[in-house]
Amino acid sequence: MNGALERLVSLYESWDKPDQAAKWRAKLERLKENNEDNGSREFELDADQVGIEYVAHACFRFYSSDGTRILIDPWASKVWLGYDLPKSILIDPVDAVVITHPHYDHDAGEFIGRQVKWPPGAQVIRDPGRYTVGDVQVTGVWGKHAAGYGKEFGQKNTMFVFEVAGLRIAHLGDNEPLSDSTVEALGSVDILMIPVDAREHLLKNREIEAIRQALEPRVLIPMHYRHPDLETDLDHPTGLGPIDPWLTRQANVFRLNGHTAVFSAPSLPSEARIVVFRHSPIVKRPDVRRTDEGGGT
Ligand SMILES: [Fe+2]
Repeated sequence: MNGALERLVSLYESWDKPDQAAKWRAKLERLKENNEDNGSREFELDADQVGIEYVAHACFRFYSSDGTRILIDPWASKVWLGYDLPKSILIDPVDAVVITHPHYDHDAGEFIGRQVKWPPGAQVIRDPGRYTVGDVQVTGVWGKHAAGYGKEFGQKNTMFVFEVAGLRIAHLGDNEPLSDSTVEALGSVDILMIPVDAREHLLKNREIEAIRQALEPRVLIPMHYRHPDLETDLDHPTGLGPIDPWLTRQANVFRLNGHTAVFSAPSLPSEARIVVFRHSPIVKRPDVRRTDEGGGT
């Protein structure tokens, strides 16, 4: 359960940094004593499998069978979203952090001036291009933020395709509707992570349907919607709707009982389906009431 911290201790030991290793070993011991869970899961994966963990909002972690770990779009605490990013998310070792765009609900608040310390040793990927991260091929595709938001950074949004275990997994960030050339650049997509919410905050329902028809993913994983159980105010975060009203109009909806799942090419469903994760249990509703603290993306 706390294997990620054990890896971190080993990492510091291998770097000959005994003080850091001791610090994290002490933290690990405290967690063990208190029986606390840092959220990360040790996946037992075959070579043709990938583990996906949903943290919350647009934030996921991928786990390959070779042990490669990738964190995508961690949000900033105390801005817009009412719930905080668990501290362990930026401590647990990953090989790369992938950021689709510099909004606070995707870049841990770096663009708005937060001093973000990324997980030790992680490569940080923000731009279009081809990257190799362990046994995962990462391709960033030029995109543009959905209308109405992101003018402060030129509406840059990079969509990412992850090739792992024979699967192609796309995370669209907050992208606008796709053009033909963008669809071509993304290539075939088996698993699609796309913003969906009942208030059509980023994409209209018909735009989501058009993207589904263009990419034909076998699995669609909705993201970037309101988590009512994590918010302390009925109209918070501003403008972001829940997922349930949209789901009631969809066919082949599979709700997971947890925040992790394993996928492989041979086990992809023959009929396209929507897979809804629970958010990670380590993401908690705050004790104090949180109302709007700015923007919205
Ligand atoms: Fe966003």
